[in-house]
Amino acid sequence: MRNSETPKTYRVKSFGCQMNVYDGERMAEMLNDKGLSPAAEGDDADLVVLNTCHIREKAAEKVYSDIGRLTKGDKNPMIAVAGCVAQAEGEEIMARAPAVGMVVGPQAYHRLPDMLDRAVKGERGTDTDMPANAKFDVLPQRRRVGPSAFLTVQEGCDKFCTYCVVPYTRGAEISRPFTDLVTEADRLVANGAREITLLGQNVNAWSGEDATGHEIGLDGLIRALAALPDLERIRYTTSHPNDMSEGLIAAHGEVDKLMPYLHLPVQSGSDRILKAMNRSHTTQSYLKLLDRFRKVRPDIALSGDFIVGFPGETGKDFEQTLKLVDAVGYAQAYSFKYSPRPGTPAASMDNAVPKEVMDERLQRLQAALNRDQLAFNQRSQGQNCDVLVERQGKLPGQWLGKSPWLQSVFFTGEAAIGDMVRVHLAQAGPNSLRGELKQTVAA
Ligand code: SAH
Ligand code: SF4
Ligand code: F3S
Repeated sequence: MRNSETPKTYRVKSFGCQMNVYDGERMAEMLNDKGLSPAAEGDDADLVVLNTCHIREKAAEKVYSDIGRLTKGDKNPMIAVAGCVAQAEGEEIMARAPAVGMVVGPQAYHRLPDMLDRAVKGERGTDTDMPANAKFDVLPQRRRVGPSAFLTVQEGCDKFCTYCVVPYTRGAEISRPFTDLVTEADRLVANGAREITLLGQNVNAWSGEDATGHEIGLDGLIRALAALPDLERIRYTTSHPNDMSEGLIAAHGEVDKLMPYLHLPVQSGSDRILKAMNRSHTTQSYLKLLDRFRKVRPDIALSGDFIVGFPGETGKDFEQTLKLVDAVGYAQAYSFKYSPRPGTPAASMDNAVPKEVMDERLQRLQAALNRDQLAFNQRSQGQNCDVLVERQGKLPGQWLGKSPWLQSVFFTGEAAIGDMVRVHLAQAGPNSLRGELKQTVAA
């Protein structure tokens, strides 16, 4: 490990889910407060934080190869490993990779600045404690953000799906207090956010007390944030079918700022497999839930997650997944091959599905999902919609933003990052739409 002078520049590399992106931003804010500055693009950083994900296989291998690349030749940056691999395999990383000076888990990263002080003196350190909510009490205030910002409101998982590492790496479910969240959202908006995505491993399990001491759920929090005048859009992810409330469904019909989009993972269309996964919902209960959303918000875009090749999944089970996909008509979805994770119950189940079968099933599933995604985009063609401008496109005068349904929209015309503009959607592709600027809705 490097143990000389205090690093001056840093880079945080976040992998995995949006919560890791949020955590990466918070670590960057702490390092800024400590006087470090972000390394310029293309430059080597004095301190590299690898903010890792453990959800699927080869997570640890990837960390070791990143460390190898960072220390190639005579390069010698200080390296911190954070995130879910740090939580799950921190001790092994410390033992195997002498170049790593700090290992810090997702619930302990507020201690990174202190660990850095010790690392500068040559003391390596591992912190994988899980003090619930502690980090949020001491993290610095939010700084300048883009037009679309993340806000972690709920963290951890008590569901223990048999394939999943998250309950072990993120810990038990906790909800951040209402007032803290309103304050952080306020800061985000003051710093340029026009859209906030509320994050949680089971975000719809969020609960708290509002300013008057009333018990509220996620819908109550959404309604309170909708009152922030300069906030234009609210989203939330990821929800679990079993934590869905009447109030949250109703909010989709009543709160204009709540975008017509729902990411609701289902994983499989076979009840037998859902049971083996410990999902505790059925295909029928899932479909019924979606119907309730569609009733209050007929244009809602639906998204989901799927796993193919869970142990024991037969061809018949898989056909049921395809049937479910046909029944829903997703606007967008993620699909993965099952990956056995050490320490999870599914990892020791019999009847593993051969790799070639998994490959073939994934291909068929993705073909069906792509077909539906294109069809969804084609239905938007010819309409006008509001687009929040997030960045410049590659072509001159081109901008990229998101529609209310989270579609990427490219358009050309007079605009700026953070504008809400009205765009005529002229042409639909599988992953994006192209349009023409009609007018700026609000500056
Ligand atoms: N909390 C969220 C998702 C967390 S992980 C939820 O329950 O919906 C994101 C996605 O990764 C999961 O929805 C699942 O589809 C996938 N995933 C998780 N563990 C996996 C594994 N062992 N193999 C393959 N995919 C997995
Ligand atoms: Fe993992 Fe299931 Fe929890 Fe989602 S609900 S994080 S898939 S254990
Ligand atoms: Fe990965 Fe951890 Fe997120 S395992 S998906 S970074 S919660």
